[in-house]
Order: sequence, then C-alpha cells, then structure tokens
Amino acid sequence: MQGVKRGIFITFEGVEGSGKTTQAEALVEWLQEKKVPHIFVREPGGTRIGEKIREILLALEHREMHPTCEVLLFLAARSQLSYERILPAIQGKKVVVSDRFADSTYAYQTHARSLPERLMAVFNRFATAGIKPDLTFIVDVDVTKGRERGTVYDRMETEGEQYHQKVRDGYMRLARRAKKRIKVLDGEKSIDALRSEVIHYVQEFLTRKGYAL
Ligand SMILES: Nc1ncnc2c1ncn2[C@@H]1O[C@H](COP(=O)(O)OP(=O)(O)OP(=O)(O)O)[C@@H](O)[C@H]1O
Ligand SMILES: [Mg+2]
Repeated sequence: MQGVKRGIFITFEGVEGSGKTTQAEALVEWLQEKKVPHIFVREPGGTRIGEKIREILLALEHREMHPTCEVLLFLAARSQLSYERILPAIQGKKVVVSDRFADSTYAYQTHARSLPERLMAVFNRFATAGIKPDLTFIVDVDVTKGRERGTVYDRMETEGEQYHQKVRDGYMRLARRAKKRIKVLDGEKSIDALRSEVIHYVQEFLTRKGYAL
C-alpha cells in the first residue's frame, strides 16, 4: 500500500453473543476482496502460547480462578499477541483486525470486577507496548438476547446476568469517553445491515488514512 506510513488496528468488542465474530469475519472477507494486506486475530489467543492461555482462562473446571489471576492471564496472552503478531503487522503496513482487545479488560475486569483502573491501565500499556486500536466497533446488544444467541459455553459465561449487565455498562462508559475511536453498533439490527455499516465506516476510515480502495 503506497502512501501509507503504518498499518491500521481495528477491534471488535461487545458482550457475549453480540455478533463480534460475525462482523469481524465479514470485514476480513471484504479486506480480502479489496486485496488489502491484513491479519485477523482473536483474544484471548491468536498465538500458540495465547491459545494455551485461552484454554486455561475459559475452562469450566477453573471455577476457583481469582480475578487477579484472571486479568494477568488475559494480559499475558495479549502481550504475546501484541509483540508476536500485531506490532510486526502494523509496522508492515497491514490492517490488523482483532476480535476483542484491551477494552475487554476494562469492561470485564476493571469495570465489572472492580479492579483498580489506573493500575490496570499501566499493566495494559506494559503488556501491549502501548499499542492502541485506531478504530473500535462495540456491538451493543441486550445481555439476555446476546446470551440466547451464544453458541459456546465457557467459564466467563457462567457469570450471572448482573455481571454481564455491568460489562455492557462498562463498554458504554468507554464509548462515551472515546467518541472518536469507538463506534457503537446496534447489535439488534440484521447481520447484513451491520455488515454494511462496518464496511462503509472502515472504507471511509482507510481512505482518509491514505489507502487506495
Ligand atoms: N445481528 C445479528 N442478528 C441476529 N443474529 C446474529 C447477529 N449477529 C450474530 N448473530 C448470530 O448470533 C450468534 C453469535 O454471534 P457471534 O459468534 O458473532 O457473536 P460473538 O459476539 O462473537 O459471541 P462470543 O462472545 O460468544 O464470541 C451466531 O449464531 C450469529 O450467527
Ligand atoms: Mg466471538
């Protein structure tokens, strides 16, 4: 991509079953069609080491996991993903699409589990070498509706309705704080309608950043 100085980092966030993966995959398909160099990763995971940490984090039998252990494991996986895959891709002028990233830590651990926000922000910067998404889509949906749609049942999903409601509130707080970076999508709309919104938005964003599409 001539004229582009660095890659672009796009993340998808939202409560369980909101449609993050569906929309991230649709965007990746579009990037393929447009022949835009890109990578697609997911959190927790996206690396050999991170996928193992994912298994530990999501295993149903790990009911006793303490919130501090939980957040440190998420950060460990994110650190490996950042250094092994995201940073090199951004330096290589690629578009990085990630299914979840640091905003999940804010919503799930800092906000919903009441961990100290400033400390978590410092840990996050340490783990990620300070990389931040350029653009984030929060797919917002009623938590009950999202959970009804959900397909995989894991440890995070065993948490009650109240916890997931707090997660959703956490995301909305973030969106109010970072209006420029975060675009909130109405997850109740159809998959196709959401896909059009995402692609329209990304197309404009990339064009502004010098991509020829
Ligand atoms: N806008 C939508 N309307 C109706 N159904 C949807 C919509 N988006 C996704 N779905 C369906 O809901 C289910 C969950 O979607 P998806 O896996 O994309 O959600 P997710 O946010 O990635 O979930 P998880 O948090 O479990 O990873 C899928 O079966 C998907 O086809
Ligand atoms: Mg998903």
